[in-house]
Amino acid sequence: MKRHLISAADLTRDDALLILDTAEELAQVVDRPIKKLPTLRGRTVVNLFFEDSTRTRISFEAAAKRLSADVINFSAKGSSVSKGESLKDTALTLEAMGADAVVIRHGASGAPYRLANWVHGSVVNAGDGTHEHPTQALLDAFTMRRRLGGLEGRQITIVGDILHSRVARSNVLLLHTLGADVTLVAPPTLLPVAVDTWPCTVSYDLDAVIPKTDVIMMLRVQAERMNAAYFPSVREYSRRYGLDARRMGQLPEHALVMHPGPMNRGVEIAAEVADSTRSTIVEQVANGVTVRMAVLYLLLGGSVPANPAEEDS
Ligand code: CP
Repeated sequence: MKRHLISAADLTRDDALLILDTAEELAQVVDRPIKKLPTLRGRTVVNLFFEDSTRTRISFEAAAKRLSADVINFSAKGSSVSKGESLKDTALTLEAMGADAVVIRHGASGAPYRLANWVHGSVVNAGDGTHEHPTQALLDAFTMRRRLGGLEGRQITIVGDILHSRVARSNVLLLHTLGADVTLVAPPTLLPVAVDTWPCTVSYDLDAVIPKTDVIMMLRVQAERMNAAYFPSVREYSRRYGLDARRMGQLPEHALVMHPGPMNRGVEIAAEVADSTRSTIVEQVANGVTVRMAVLYLLLGGSVPANPAEEDS
C-alpha cells in the first residue's frame, strides 16, 4: 500500500482486498467484551476536521483508540483557524506534536494532497470538498461483500446528487476496481461534466434500473453546496429520484438499500425504507470502525500483527 490514502484510485485490487480482509479479522475484536488491541501503542493519530462530521470523526477516533493509539482531535471551530491560521501552519503545528497519521476532512477538494507535502506521517482523506471519501467507499464495499458474498459482477446503483458527492466518486472507483458494475442515476443537472470519463454507466430513469439492482445507494441532496436551483422542487425530486416503499418493492428480493448518511428522510429516502430490514445504514456505521481500524493498522502498524490474540491461538 502507498503511504497515504487520499483517493480510492490509490488502491490496487490487492490493496483493497487486503484492507477488507484485515477489517474482517479485526471485526472479531469488536465482538469481544474488551474491544482493544495493543497494536498501535505509542503511535499518534490526529483527527483534523475543518468540516462537520458525525460518523467519520467518531469512527476514526474509536478505530485509533481500539488499536491503542494516542488520539488528538482537532476541530477548526474553536481553533486558531478562526484567527486566520492557514492549513499549512495548522499542519506544521500538529506535526510538531508528533503525528504519525493525520486524518483530514476539509471543504476544499485537494486539501489532503497539499497536506501530504507538509507532514511526515500518513495522510488519510476523510472527505475533501466534492472530490473523494475513500474510507466511506471501503466501508460500503465491506458491507456489500459481507451481505452479498462478493462484488464481482454485482450491479450497484448510486442515485441522487452525484455532482456534489465525494462518496459517489470514491465508490465508483473502488467498486470498479473490485469488479462490480456501477450505474449512476441522477437528473442531468446533478451529474459532473466529466462523468463520461468515470468507469460506470449513467441513467436518468430510476424505475428502469431498479429491477436489475443488487445494491441501491441513495445519496443526500447536499443543499449546503448548492448555489442555484438544480431541480424544480423537493417534491418533484423525490417523485423522480427518491426511494419510497413502492420503488423498494420493485428491487430484487436480495437487494440492499444503502445510504452513507446523514440522510434527508422524506427527500432522497422515505423513512419506512431507511428503517426497513433491507437497509444497511446502521450496519455501515458499525463497519466504518473496523474498516478504519484496518486502514490505520495497514498504514501505521508495519510488521506487528493486527490481532496478536489470533497470532497466539
Ligand atoms: N458519511 C459521512 O461521511 O458522514 P459524516 O459527515 O457524519 O462523517
